[in-house]
Amino acid sequence: MPPAANLRFLGKRILLGVSGSIAAYKAVGLVRDLVQEGAEVTVVMTESATRFVRPLTFEVLSGHSVATDLFAASQEMLHLTLPERADVMVIAPATANVLAKCALGLADDLLSTILLSAGCPLILAPAMDGGMWDHAAVKAHTETLRGRGVTVLEPEEGPLASGRVGRGRLTEERVILAAIEARLSPRRDWVCQRVLLSAGPTQEAIDPVRYISNRSSGKMGYAVAQAARERGAEVVLVSGPTALEVPRGVEHVPVCTAEEMGKALISRFAWSTVVIMAAAVADVRPKRPSPEKIKKGATSLQRLEMEPTGDILEMLAKQRTSQVLVGFAAETGHVIEHAKEKLGRKGLDLIVGNNIAAEGSGFGTDTNAAVLVDRDGHVTQLDLMPKRILADRILDAVLGLAWTSKGPAQTRPLGKM
Ligand code: CTP
Repeated sequence: MPPAANLRFLGKRILLGVSGSIAAYKAVGLVRDLVQEGAEVTVVMTESATRFVRPLTFEVLSGHSVATDLFAASQEMLHLTLPERADVMVIAPATANVLAKCALGLADDLLSTILLSAGCPLILAPAMDGGMWDHAAVKAHTETLRGRGVTVLEPEEGPLASGRVGRGRLTEERVILAAIEARLSPRRDWVCQRVLLSAGPTQEAIDPVRYISNRSSGKMGYAVAQAARERGAEVVLVSGPTALEVPRGVEHVPVCTAEEMGKALISRFAWSTVVIMAAAVADVRPKRPSPEKIKKGATSLQRLEMEPTGDILEMLAKQRTSQVLVGFAAETGHVIEHAKEKLGRKGLDLIVGNNIAAEGSGFGTDTNAAVLVDRDGHVTQLDLMPKRILADRILDAVLGLAWTSKGPAQTRPLGKM
């Protein structure tokens, strides 16, 4: 048993709902780890969840009886007393059915009835087949729940129980644990910060049909936007085209080209206290985009003339008053050397380097293994971790940098802005 100081959930009462997904077995590890970290866990299972895992497993690990039946429990009014006693409620895995019942307020079993009476923070960790997660109904329910302040964690992409590959796998346990920690004691250490963030790719037109772009999904930038917002910052997200949902409470400025992105950032720069450039900005663009579709035989399509777009970060660095500037460096090798060179050339306070060629890192993935290099030359190598957790590590590094360093770029401690 770790020392008491490491028990991050000591004395916290967690009500864990388990619904009928093949991922129900993963809730076993979650209960074990929550209990090891000091939590008092009570498990409620749907009838279909009991077909995947026996209630006895959870009873042994949690030390509490498992509630499954609304009617058998009616004398004790468990649908009222269980949520009253909870500091936070988590449903992991949450099926599409549970998501829908929760969004619509349906109450036809113990777990869904509890959801109607629970006043504590609620976290749902969905798990389902990829096609189901993409269904318009599931999307609408997710949006409704998020709008109501429920934390709905994104499922992950990968091989599914059906044998298909898609987005629908229960998110990693450490993401669920981090979400529980955040809901139990939300960190508000970015209050008063005004974060100007860029994310996603840019698109540079060749003609009305074709464009030049890159593989950036925007996931890293969106994760940082969400983390900064949750920690109390005001966040403006200037984003190139992505398929992602804008995090709640974040102001979204959609752009397409590097020029539009530059203009949007420059016009808001004076407002900001921190700029985080997670976007993959095009370095060059076609010099003369055609107003009409270029025919395939045309020489102008075979030999495109390009011109530089101008470096946004370098432009911002020249205009800065007291802003902290954070850049990214997506590399295929020599990450630390390239990151250090870019940090110096662009006048940054911190740069986040990553090797996009490494497994699990880079464009489109849900995880990233990054290295943080700060303006004082400190290098912090981080393990492969979900982008949402990396986002918090980046924000921690920015705060640490501002408080401990006194380089010329920083005129005031960040926390006092
Ligand atoms: N960046 C920028 N404006 C550009 C290109 C990049 O502000 N025109 C920013 C990116 O958002 C990122 C950082 O600069 O935060 C590093 O981008 P990257 O593409 O890795 O570096 P480049 O300077 O473009 O160098 P290279 O492409 O040669 O690696």
